[in-house]
Amino acid sequence: MENGPLKVIIVGGGHRSLTYSEYALLRKDRMQIVGVAEPDDNRRKMIAEKFSIPEEHCFHDALALSRAPKFADAVINGTMDHIHVSTTIPLLEAGYDVLLEKPFAVNEQEARTLAEAARKTGRKVMVCFVLRYAGFYRNIKDVILSGKIGDIIDIHTSEYVSYHHMSTSYVRGKWNNSDKCHSTMLLAKCCHDIDIITWLMGSVKPQLVSSFGSNIQYRPENAPEGSGTYCLVDCPYVDTCNYSSKRLYLDHPDRWVVYVWDKLENIPNPTDEDRRELLKTSPYGRCIYKSDNNVVDHQSVSILFENGATGTHSMIGGAATGTRKISVTGTKGMIYGDFEEGKITVSIINPAPGCEKDDTEITVSEHENHGGGDLALVEDFISYCKGEETSVSCTSIEGSLLSHLTVFLADESRENGGAPLKVIT
Ligand SMILES: NC(=O)c1ccc[n+]([C@@H]2O[C@H](COP(=O)([O-])OP(=O)(O)OC[C@H]3O[C@@H](n4cnc5c(N)ncnc54)[C@H](O)[C@@H]3O)[C@@H](O)[C@H]2O)c1
Repeated sequence: MENGPLKVIIVGGGHRSLTYSEYALLRKDRMQIVGVAEPDDNRRKMIAEKFSIPEEHCFHDALALSRAPKFADAVINGTMDHIHVSTTIPLLEAGYDVLLEKPFAVNEQEARTLAEAARKTGRKVMVCFVLRYAGFYRNIKDVILSGKIGDIIDIHTSEYVSYHHMSTSYVRGKWNNSDKCHSTMLLAKCCHDIDIITWLMGSVKPQLVSSFGSNIQYRPENAPEGSGTYCLVDCPYVDTCNYSSKRLYLDHPDRWVVYVWDKLENIPNPTDEDRRELLKTSPYGRCIYKSDNNVVDHQSVSILFENGATGTHSMIGGAATGTRKISVTGTKGMIYGDFEEGKITVSIINPAPGCEKDDTEITVSEHENHGGGDLALVEDFISYCKGEETSVSCTSIEGSLLSHLTVFLADESRENGGAPLKVIT
């Protein structure tokens, strides 16, 4: 690979790819966007203009790109979940390294096929587990690696998905029905958390998984009496329901609305009236109780590791606010933290007279936790492709296979009444 910036092509010019490609504007010496493959004419044109991409390097889709002579080092694949494998394999065969969005596959067979394709072609595939790059989890990993809390006995993580996020992304959003989007709630939302648990456990592998979960809130029988089907069309609860699309998206135009206004992205300055009209027919305007959702609204996962340690994760959807919490208990101490607060407490056992434990507080800034994580991930991808030293957060496809397999088994267990299932690596 030449010295100079890594030459990268955007495949799937949606929200995530654009976030990662911002790095090219900040660090021109490290990354250059030189091509795009995107079926949507407006998105493709917008990206070509933004990064001054010549016409001959603009393609309709991933397959068309893979058939053209290679002209870059790597691609950022930000397509939707169910086409990650089918779009990535031809690009690996064409000689590109790939930064691939999570989940990298939607079932076990796909996951193993892609891992095998990466092995066979000798290309690098890095998975976008951005949480590993958030300052919060990096600090926790560092404490564990320092040995301060001893050997891990148990990790518990919980994710509270706020009512506005739950309704927008899941119950009536892009990931509301696994028959259509091919991802379950656990795969779409919590593959990050299961990855964090397996990553923090280091080389100790999961052995058994079991899980319970269901949807008890967002069901037709829970709709208020006399409610309509579209909040802004025929519902008398439009000003009072917690999930009214008027209250969630018009009264709060900047909160969890990124997907809601996708259909307006070609209008230069959409007005409130444009938004109101859209919600009268868009999936995001549907009654939350009468959508075609089949995702769970809460789920718990238990993992037994090969050394007897345990890991548990709870996803609770529809919470008053969103956050992630974690506790890691070791033989010498424990770590407790709240992601949104950006606070971590490390407590080390100390039975000295007058003492119980020694506490250290770690504060993580908002920037280190969110936007900073996305850009740190891209920086690591560049180092990975160039053969430079990478961070402890870097994950190859092999390093992500285990957490994906654990998620697939957790869902299989949930569908089978919580039966424990063996993780075969
Ligand atoms: N890492 C994270 O924290 C995180 C957060 C949100 C979403 N995601 C994941 O990111 C991925 C993308 O999500 P998004 O919201 O950006 O999606 P998006 O729908 O905004 O973008 C996907 C783009 O892919 C394009 N596309 C479709 N078929 C294609 C093909 N054959 N070749 C090239 N392009 C094609 C679509 O036209 C679309 O523009 C999803 O897998 C999602 O689960 C990850």
